[in-house]
Order: sequence, then structure tokens, then C-alpha cells
Amino acid sequence: MVVYIRGLWIIAIAFWSVLGERSEKGSNKLESRVSQLLEWNSRRSVITLSSDKFNAYVRSKPRNYSSVVMFTALKPGRGCSICKDAYDEYQIVANSWRYSNDYSSKLFFIMVDIDEDGVDAFQQLHITTAPTYFHFPPLGKRKPEDQYDVSRNSYQAEPLTKWVVERTGVPAWIFVMISGQMWNNIRGPPFAHKDPHTGATVSIGLVLLTFIRYLHCVYLHHRCIWLR
Ligand SMILES: *[C@@H]1O[C@H](CO)[C@@H](O)[C@H](O)[C@H]1NC(C)=O
Repeated sequence: MVVYIRGLWIIAIAFWSVLGERSEKGSNKLESRVSQLLEWNSRRSVITLSSDKFNAYVRSKPRNYSSVVMFTALKPGRGCSICKDAYDEYQIVANSWRYSNDYSSKLFFIMVDIDEDGVDAFQQLHITTAPTYFHFPPLGKRKPEDQYDVSRNSYQAEPLTKWVVERTGVPAWIFVMISGQMWNNIRGPPFAHKDPHTGATVSIGLVLLTFIRYLHCVYLHHRCIWLR
């Protein structure tokens, strides 16, 4: 009996130390995950992840950030004719977030390509068509609305951004939508600044802004889309 009780104690102690270690690891991991994501994000607005990394960075808990994930199949052999366009649009959204004044570790734009070790991730979520978009909230379960309805809303940057803002609760950001290359050259949203009192992104005089926008759009021969 004594031996038996001692045995129980050892098991209990072992159990607690494992639990303790795990929770400590959990919080360490969050910090290192966030800094790893920020590091990747400093180089690319859209972070491409394999299935393993998808599980480690998007699905593991605890989390304090939202992930928007585009599941896609860019390899030409897959025959996804819209995937390339969808990728360009997604990049526009990710870039405009990445270089907005509201950018923080609250939201990351991720991509999982079925041909870049993405098969498992596709299977886990029962994804059979590409592109498919999911939002993974920081807390709680995913809701039906956390899957973007591509057929109803299209993969264009504007409706996609509206959905992202709605799902993640990040402030709607004012942005000029231009190519990724151009963003890399500019490194920052050109015509917006933060109001020091409210913290909201505000624009410098609507008339002036409209004029600059116009010139800017004409100059770049590109689309400009503003939210709100
Ligand atoms: C999330 O947690 C990490 C680690 O504690 C912290 O560095 C980061 O600022 C937090 N992010 C947000 C959006 O609160």
C-alpha cells in the first residue's frame, strides 16, 4: 500500500511538472511565433506556409492574432485559371495592410499552396476548390462567416478587404492599390496619417486628397480603391 501511494505521488508530480512545462512553453511559443511572423512579414506581405507551419502558426493556441489564409493552387498544371489573378488581388490587400498606419501583429496574410506542402492543410479543412479563403480568429471557434464566399463576392481586392475588416475588426485602412513592386519602392502609405488624439487614420483634406488620388491613379495607370 505504501509503495502504491508513493507510486501515485510520483505520477502526480510527474504530471504536474509536464503540465507546468507545457503552459510555460505555450506562452514562450506565442511570443516566438509572433516575432517569427513579424520577421517573415518584414520581407513578404503574404507569408507562404507549408501544412506543418500552417498548423504551428495559424492553428496552434494560444493566439492573439488573426490569420487570413488563401488556399490556392498556383502551379499551371493544376489548371486553376483564376488563381494567378486571385493571388495578385490578395497581394494588393496584404500590401495595403502591411504598409498602412494601422499595421500590427494583429493580422497576418498567409497563403497555403497545395503544391508547396499544402495537401494536409487542404484535407484538414476539406477544401476542394481554389482559391478558398479562411479567417482564423485569435480566440474562439471559426464561424461560417469566417469562410469567404468567393462565388458571391469574387476574389477582387475590394470585397476581400471589406470581408477582412469585418471579420478581424482591424480599422478600415485607406489605401492606394498598386502593384507589390511599387509598394516596395514607396514603403509606406503616401496620403494618410494617424490622428494623434483618436488614433484613427485620417486623410489630409478631402479635396486635396481627391486631387492627389486622381493624379496618382493617372500617373500609375492603375486602379485605386478606397474603403469608406
Ligand atoms: C501578442 O503577444 C505577443 C507576445 O506576448 C506580443 O509581443 C504582441 O504584441 C501581442 N500582439 C497583439 C496584437 O496584442
